[in-house]
Amino acid sequence: MASDFKLAPSILSADFSDLRSALKICDEGGAHWIHIDVMDNQFVPNLTLGPPIVKKLRPHSKKYFDVHMMVIEPEKLVDQFANAGADGITFHVEASDDPQMVIDLIHDAGKDAGLSIKPKTPLQEIEPFLESIEILLVMSVEPGFGGQGYVGGSTERIRELRAMISEKGLDEKVTMVIDGGVKLHNAKEVLDAGVDVLVAGSEVFESDDPVGTIKSFYDIGNS
Ligand code: DX5
Ligand code: ZN
Repeated sequence: MASDFKLAPSILSADFSDLRSALKICDEGGAHWIHIDVMDNQFVPNLTLGPPIVKKLRPHSKKYFDVHMMVIEPEKLVDQFANAGADGITFHVEASDDPQMVIDLIHDAGKDAGLSIKPKTPLQEIEPFLESIEILLVMSVEPGFGGQGYVGGSTERIRELRAMISEKGLDEKVTMVIDGGVKLHNAKEVLDAGVDVLVAGSEVFESDDPVGTIKSFYDIGNS
């Protein structure tokens, strides 16, 4: 997957008082996606940003806006994020009794549908939906905060999911994303396990040289 490798810096770790600069950093570093973490203080114990902020950011970037909703009742926010300019809209399998309905709503809004899974959730829970989605976002930390350590066993889960995706002939259709605790030092390991996109928050935005860090991810991913 290395040739298709993409980095999605998570603006969760950027300076929230200056998000335009964060978008500029992503441009200068050559990142493909912008990862936008949406938290509702119910599905996770933290509160971040919503559609109005995404709408204000939209004119300042041409990148793919990868909205990661960590919210209950995700169906209620799909249209708002679609109208705000999201390109992909991802929700959690743990947050919905009817994931297919939410996937269909995202498609009706003309966006890529993403499904995310927390580290302790059995992989079987997402299997029935693989044929319907464009993005599979695998969490390698408990969702809620940036800057946590990569959960052991996540790389093995990626391998199992890659096998599942390949068996179903979905390698070209489903983009697998890993989110949480991704650093320069473990980027190669997770890419080799079969992910297409790395989300990196604190490693990029808490670095002294965020642009250089983004470029270093690409050096590793394309090596
Ligand atoms: C956590 C978020 C992640 C977070 C990753 O709930 O979904 O996207 O920003 O941050 P790092 O890369 O610092 O683990
Ligand atoms: Zn995220």
